[in-house]
Amino acid sequence: MTPAATQLRFSPAAQAEIKRLLTHYPAERSKSAMLPILHIAQAEFGGWVSPEVQDLVAETLNIRPIEVYEVATFYTMYNLKPVGRHVLEICRTGPCMLRGSDELTQHLERITGARVGETSPDGEFTLKEVECLAACGFAPVVQVREKYYEKLDTEEAVDTMLSELRSLIHRPILSWEENGLPNSLQNT
Ligand code: FES
Repeated sequence: MTPAATQLRFSPAAQAEIKRLLTHYPAERSKSAMLPILHIAQAEFGGWVSPEVQDLVAETLNIRPIEVYEVATFYTMYNLKPVGRHVLEICRTGPCMLRGSDELTQHLERITGARVGETSPDGEFTLKEVECLAACGFAPVVQVREKYYEKLDTEEAVDTMLSELRSLIHRPILSWEENGLPNSLQNT
């Protein structure tokens, strides 16, 4: 059963970017654009994808909402509840764990006042644990939106990252071409 159409709408800029993205896929395979469109939706609607936002993505792709729910709930990069200004995705997989991700997480919890899965009282940081971010040679690693913070094996490195983030004003992710590669990929 198809639910009632959502009242939400993408901004004209987001609509233009979605239209451009869809040109990358055959018309009968437009569902393949779901991941980047979910990223646009997340950036556009406050950093998380509510059920209504997921419905909008389904409506945009002309597919059933359940097809979007399945994807949005599978990948950790989509936030399913409100988050702070910065979402810190802390890698907890083997190489990062061996290089101190547990200590890194404990330090972040101490400094921000948020436990993993929570948002700091000042609304600045949400802490999440995720699996391998594919930058194992630069462990331990934290991803914040499109940027990787690498070799966070000292408290000083972590504090520098947090200061940088506090001073940042993020703009929405609307174009994949405009986003830089993680340092780990630039260095190889
Ligand atoms: S294990 Fe952390 S980036 Fe691969």
